[in-house]
Amino acid sequence: MQQDMDTPEDYLYLQSCHRRKSIPTLDQCRRILFENGVGEQVIEHCSMVTVIAMEMASRLNKAGAELDMDLILTGALMHDVAYGKPDHAQAGARLLESRGYPLLAEVVSVHTDIEVSESHPLTESEIVFLAGKMIKGRHIVSVKDRFAVELEKYKNNPQASTAVVKRWKQAERIMLKIEKITGGPVESVPVSDFHL
Ligand SMILES: [Fe+2]
Repeated sequence: MQQDMDTPEDYLYLQSCHRRKSIPTLDQCRRILFENGVGEQVIEHCSMVTVIAMEMASRLNKAGAELDMDLILTGALMHDVAYGKPDHAQAGARLLESRGYPLLAEVVSVHTDIEVSESHPLTESEIVFLAGKMIKGRHIVSVKDRFAVELEKYKNNPQASTAVVKRWKQAERIMLKIEKITGGPVESVPVSDFHL
């Protein structure tokens, strides 16, 4: 059935319907994870990233941001859907694109490497990227400690070190963008607010 687009409200309604369709439901996420044989540890890691990402997003939206919570939830949950495959971020993005989820594919494609523009409004991809840097395996880590450990690990590998420094810089840019909106440091959220 063709929906009329007589008014700007009709257009916005249709646009939001289209957007909804390009984000999978939780049930569809579960099925994709299962079909791709994603292991329990990876799912556990992704679940923890999801908790952190949703917590940040809800604080941001309360402070006036207009982040799409469904996109953040599914992006965080599915970001490692192709974990273990070569260039797993791009492999995961291709998989989700082929399933008809281009918005989600975009979030997954940049979860390891992202370009952050300070003048551009905060994006869902940036939240998922940062949340991913706050969880190492199944542990909550500080962004600074995480990157310091990585730099130490790659101290004899200039190419890898440069990549780590670049990611660290992008994470810091995202934290600054968040702090401008919420007015407080990203990592000072009381632990009691997390339900892990
Ligand atoms: Fe990943």
